[in-house]
Formats: sequence, structure tokens, C-alpha cells
Amino acid sequence: MVNVKEKFDNEISNISTQDQLESLRISYIGKKGYISENLKQLSKLLPDERKTQGQEINSLKQYVIEKINQKKEIFIKEKINKQLDSETIDATLPARHQKIGSLHPISFVIEEISAIFKKMGFSAVAGPEIEDDYHNFTALNIAEDHPARQMHDTFYLNKTNKLLRTHTSSVQIRTMSEGKSPFAIIAPGKTYRSDSDTTHTPMFHQIEALYINKKVSMGHLKYCIKTFLDEFFGTNIDIRFRSSFFPFTEPSAEVDIGCKILKDTIDLKQSGDYLEIMGCGMVHPNILENLNIDTNIYNGFALGLGVERVAMLKYGMKDLRQFFNADKDWLKTFNFAPYIKPY
Ligand code: DAH
Repeated sequence: MVNVKEKFDNEISNISTQDQLESLRISYIGKKGYISENLKQLSKLLPDERKTQGQEINSLKQYVIEKINQKKEIFIKEKINKQLDSETIDATLPARHQKIGSLHPISFVIEEISAIFKKMGFSAVAGPEIEDDYHNFTALNIAEDHPARQMHDTFYLNKTNKLLRTHTSSVQIRTMSEGKSPFAIIAPGKTYRSDSDTTHTPMFHQIEALYINKKVSMGHLKYCIKTFLDEFFGTNIDIRFRSSFFPFTEPSAEVDIGCKILKDTIDLKQSGDYLEIMGCGMVHPNILENLNIDTNIYNGFALGLGVERVAMLKYGMKDLRQFFNADKDWLKTFNFAPYIKPY
């Protein structure tokens, strides 16, 4: 038996696979294995011999089972370790990019413009797109028979005095009648006019700015516009104030920016031409007085600009109508990510 044990120890120490281990197991404790055969022979022995031999062979059997199980454990552990080694995760790899769409250029540009004005202390407010005659015209000093009412081809809602706002200037009135001076607001949003050709769409976007405080001057207005344009276009913009007329401002001006109009693009870094970019002026005292704002103390400026227009200038869109065609390929060419700028 001692020899058998040594033989077994020798054999098991040379084993390197689970298959070999299984063969070894069968050859010792399988049905016809060495130990099983020996156990069968016990009955042929005398009772005394049977007892001693039986004990010996049973303890050998226990020993073999134990060793084989130990070896099996080692193989299982080795297999798991190998698997872990080959399947390691590189936690430093960047996460897989998840594309969930992009912002429409209009939304993106409104965000850009708003961020610049917010930095100058303006806050954004919203007003209704369905307006009434009073907020869209009357309160803005546009009298009943004033030609300005024809200047806008207005969408009136049948049998009501409601209309689709023709400009965001109506938000000036809502802001001033609901709050207390001073004011520094911007109002971005949709506006509507019955107009449709290559350079006009019936719906478009404007941003209005209103600043009411003590001793406000055209100088403040000019500073505000220049600061905005330089930051928005990312370059030093040459501006020109051209005298104009709006019923809600006095004096009124149109702002032109210096540029070079080339065959396919407009270059803001060159000079030679001027392009009209927004309307502005000092808020007409009539408006303030009608809203019970003391014009001996307060005055201010307002401005309004077209979002599509500045977007086209900055990002080079060629055709205004593309903004509203819902063409996915066109949107993809701009691919604006959500606007996150830590102002
Ligand atoms: N509301 C004008 C328009 O739609 C734009 C405008 C001009 C707004 C002068 C203003 C302003 O606030 O002061 O054409």
C-alpha cells in the first residue's frame, strides 16, 4: 500500500490538465479502478486480514479523493485567473460617444446672444406670441392711423383684437407695465408677418433688448451694441449708426456693420460695404409716460435684431428658408451641441 501511495503521489504531481486528472481518478477509484478492485478482493480474506487491509485501503481511498479534489480546485482557480487576465477592463478608456441630436441653429444662436447680454446684466423674459393690438401697436406709440401699422403685414385672428405679434417690441410694454424701473431685459422669440419670398419667411425670430435707468444715453446704447457685436462675431466690428425712424424710439437709428460683400460670402474682417443689422433708439417718452414711468427720472434705450440674419452672417447659411425645412442633413452640417458656456 505504501508503494501504491507513492505511485499515486508521483502520478498526480505530473498531471497538468483536467482530462489527465480525470483519467487518474478513474484508474484509482473508478468502478474498475485499482482501489475498487482491491476492495472487492477483501471478501476473500480472513476476518483479521480483512479488517486491517480494509482500513488501509479505505484510508488510501480517502487520501486519493482528497488529493484529486485539491488538484481539481487548483485547476478551477487557474482557469478563472486566466479568464480574468484575458478579460481585464481598461477603466481609462473614454466613454462611448452617445449622439442624441443637436440644437437647431436658431436655438443655438439665441443661446449665444442671450449669454452675452446676460453677462452685461440683462435677464431674459418671454412674452406671448398671440398678442393684442394694444401691446403690439398702440402702447408702442403706433397710432391707429399710423402708417407703421401697414409697415407690418399683420396676421390678425378673426373676430378678436388678437394678432400674431409682428415684433418682440411688445415684450417691452409687458415688462414695463408689470414691473418697476430700472429694467434690463432681453426678449427672444418668434415673430410673424405675412411675407414670403427668398429673404422673408412668415415666421422668424427676433431678440429685443430694453434698458431703462437713470440718465441713460445713446453712448450706453452704442457701447452695448458694440460689446455685443464684437463678442458675438469674435472680432472687432466696425459699426455705423444711421438715422432712422421707429414710432417707439426717438431718436431712432439703424445699425450697420462694416464688411466686404463677396461673391459667395460676407467678410466681416474686410471693409468697403455696410450691412444693416438692427434697429434701435432711445425709448420714446410717450411710451414711458403712458406706463406711468417718470421721465424726469428714467429714460432708456431699446433695440431689436433678427436672429436668422445674424445667424446667417456668423455661420454662413445661404438661404433663409433652410432654417424651416426640417432637413436633417442641413442640420447635421451645423451639428450644434447643447450650448453650455460658464458665464
Ligand atoms: N421692432 C422693430 C422691427 O421689428 C425693430 C426695432 C427697432 C426694435 C428699433 C427696437 C427698436 O426696440 O428700438 O422692425
